Amino acid sequence: MIKIVDLWKSFNGQEVLRGIDLEIPKGKRTAIIGRSGGGKSVLLKHIIGLLKPDRGSIYIDGEDITRLRGERLNRIKRKFGVVFQGGALFDSLTIYDNVAFPLRELTDLDEEEIRERVERLLEEVSLSGMEGKYPDEISGGMRKRVAIARAMIMEPEILVFDEPTTGLDPITTKTIHALMTGCSRKTNCTEVIVTHRIREVLDIAHFVAMLHEGRIVEFTTPQELITSENPIVRGFITGKVKGGKLQDF
Ligand SMILES: Nc1ncnc2c1ncn2[C@@H]1O[C@H](COP(=O)(O)OP(=O)(O)OP(=O)(O)O)[C@@H](O)[C@H]1O
Ligand SMILES: [Mg+2]
Repeated sequence: MIKIVDLWKSFNGQEVLRGIDLEIPKGKRTAIIGRSGGGKSVLLKHIIGLLKPDRGSIYIDGEDITRLRGERLNRIKRKFGVVFQGGALFDSLTIYDNVAFPLRELTDLDEEEIRERVERLLEEVSLSGMEGKYPDEISGGMRKRVAIARAMIMEPEILVFDEPTTGLDPITTKTIHALMTGCSRKTNCTEVIVTHRIREVLDIAHFVAMLHEGRIVEFTTPQELITSENPIVRGFITGKVKGGKLQDF
């Protein structure tokens, strides 16, 4: 469904992506892991058509989005629901209006239909009663859940999450994981998650890709990742294991 071929990107002479090759399977949940500052968010922004590469291709359902502009690119962008690192809510809009935003922008639904959908989804993310609040009046975990509700409201074919649970407590993390698995069961969407939490990869990913020095150095299942002989993978994982226990961060 998503096929990335030899993708390169530099910023001011700093090579961030150095020939990414990656196939993300349809209807599955694929995690992208790697060190902080390694280019995970940059890679995601290419996948959703927000950044253009210096060279290389990204095929979404067979169409190379790096060659598309204007309305043809927008048509592909509408396949995506995106939860940005940090949430990226509209601060001047209420929780309700944040979640309703895509429906108002992109559909012809009337306000009653919109209300029905927004309230149903806010209930699913346990935020009923918060409709009238603004993003700075709710907690970080709540903001994440609003961002997830906003990403899911269009029932997109592809859901992209950048660090969906980083900084959240274990219970909120579980709630968010349940939302993700529930959503993919319902709509069979393809999911891409950037995370540096190995625990999260083991708990919810079907596949995992490791980004290192601008390339994908491993693509495998979470179980095989843990026993991988690849020294880069081993280094990443053992860096997160202290005293025989997996550090969850
Ligand atoms: N728009 C930009 N202009 C210039 N440099 C950028 C831009 N976006 C990202 N970079 C640089 O690209 C590198 C990779 O950044 P990126 O945000 O993708 O890292 P990351 O793997 O997501 O890290 P983290 O785990 O901390 O979120 C960094 O050195 C960053 O400074
Ligand atoms: Mg990032």
